[in-house]
Amino acid sequence: RSAHLTVDPHFSVGPIQRRLFGGFVEHLGRHVYDGIYEPGHPTADACGFRADVVDLVKELGVSTIRYPGGNFVSGFRWEDSVGPREERPRRLDLAWHSTETNEVGLHEFSHWLEKVGSDLMMAVNLGTRGTLEALDLLEYSNVRGGTTLSEQRRANGRDEPFAVEMWCLGNEMDGPWQLGHRSADDYGKIASQTAKAMRQVDPSLKLVVCGSSSAHMPTFGEWERVVLGHTYDDIDYISCHAYYEERDGDLGSFLASAVDMDGFIETVVATADHVGAVRGSKKKIEISFDEWNVWYIDRFHGVDKIEGIENWPVAPRLLEDVYSVADAVVFGNLMISLLKHADRVTSASLAQLVNVIAPIMTEPGGPAWRQTTFFPFSITSRLAQGEALQLKLESPTYETKVYGEVSLVDAVATFDRQSGRSAVFLVNRSQDEAVTITIDIAALGEVSVLETHTLSDDDVYAKNTLEDRERVAPRSNDSVSTDAGELTVTLPPVSWTAIALG
Ligand code: AHR
Repeated sequence: RSAHLTVDPHFSVGPIQRRLFGGFVEHLGRHVYDGIYEPGHPTADACGFRADVVDLVKELGVSTIRYPGGNFVSGFRWEDSVGPREERPRRLDLAWHSTETNEVGLHEFSHWLEKVGSDLMMAVNLGTRGTLEALDLLEYSNVRGGTTLSEQRRANGRDEPFAVEMWCLGNEMDGPWQLGHRSADDYGKIASQTAKAMRQVDPSLKLVVCGSSSAHMPTFGEWERVVLGHTYDDIDYISCHAYYEERDGDLGSFLASAVDMDGFIETVVATADHVGAVRGSKKKIEISFDEWNVWYIDRFHGVDKIEGIENWPVAPRLLEDVYSVADAVVFGNLMISLLKHADRVTSASLAQLVNVIAPIMTEPGGPAWRQTTFFPFSITSRLAQGEALQLKLESPTYETKVYGEVSLVDAVATFDRQSGRSAVFLVNRSQDEAVTITIDIAALGEVSVLETHTLSDDDVYAKNTLEDRERVAPRSNDSVSTDAGELTVTLPPVSWTAIALG
């Protein structure tokens, strides 16, 4: 099969914000405890954070990290997580039916963020708490001194404010599973009130209001319209969350998951712009896609679920999906979708980072390793610089049960005007046929191929596991050739490819 693509730096979608390569750390399962934090581990620092995990997170290339949840945040009392560690309470975490020891809190997590070189994106609890507690956390975090809470932070060892710029106003408030779940109208009112109050403390904050937990929620679309009706002037971003998994052996539809993400983004943009038009507002709301990934949710409900009044484990093994090559190809395609919409998706957080639906896995006392999904993230984060480009793509199609006829190939390109470098990211969704694609790169001028990476395998379900940690890794694509302003590359079946030019 063959396909054709034209890359031209004159046609820009928009600048790529570094925040697009964000991550997410939730107090959930073995993410924090026995994940990033394991005091007894041979690589642990004086604070208990694993250096091998820090190295992998740095290699992954994550920018802003959302914290501390997720569903967890809707039952979280932030005060529990600061002050002398031995005095911190142990609490029931209702979201994940676990015990939260609060051994790692705001100060410790900030220390870890400094080690990995990422910024904090904080979520406030608007499920079981309200405006006042959000204001308290903001004062504790961002006010330099001279007030009770800011002085408390200083007494707790942090002289400088944490200076958190980006804040999520609750989490998935449209979901019936959420503690304090509300109607769009009720949530819109409290979100607006909280945003206004937080801006009275610091007008420069970047605020994210909760959109839908997926494009398949019964309230999707109407939720966004109503919530933005209340909050349009008060916030900067609306969130999107989406998880994909292969269902009923339908690999063809699963490989086309990015079609759903494209539609999700475009519908939220249209809804936000509709609300703006009705208000006669010139302001454009941006999207924070602050939870996205492949997640085998059915497995969580069937296998992992913890129950029983006597049963509240600390750091249980939860949501520890092991990702295949096919999962990584879908994952890489989701990143392509985010980049294609870089004009409006200006922030995103891969959910999550370590052990919990994560690109990085660890064993207590043992090694840390890269899942298959690690590679498309780290390579895209490193190579996608500058602006995302509009492409002209001609590709064969195939029929899917869920999305109808879809393109076999999906792609995005980026161009960095400063360095003159560009990158092309591609997937081939065919299960049995390679696709040879010719890419018209004449508009890029004299360029040569700097790097190629292709992730594929004869076994599309091959995985990296504790026993075989390096079974899957991308390799360079030797089929690449260039001639007279045209680049040709063969994409194996079920594959993800990145090509850097400069
Ligand atoms: O990422 C796992 C969970 O998925 C988060 O806690 C929640 O926000 C979402 O439903």
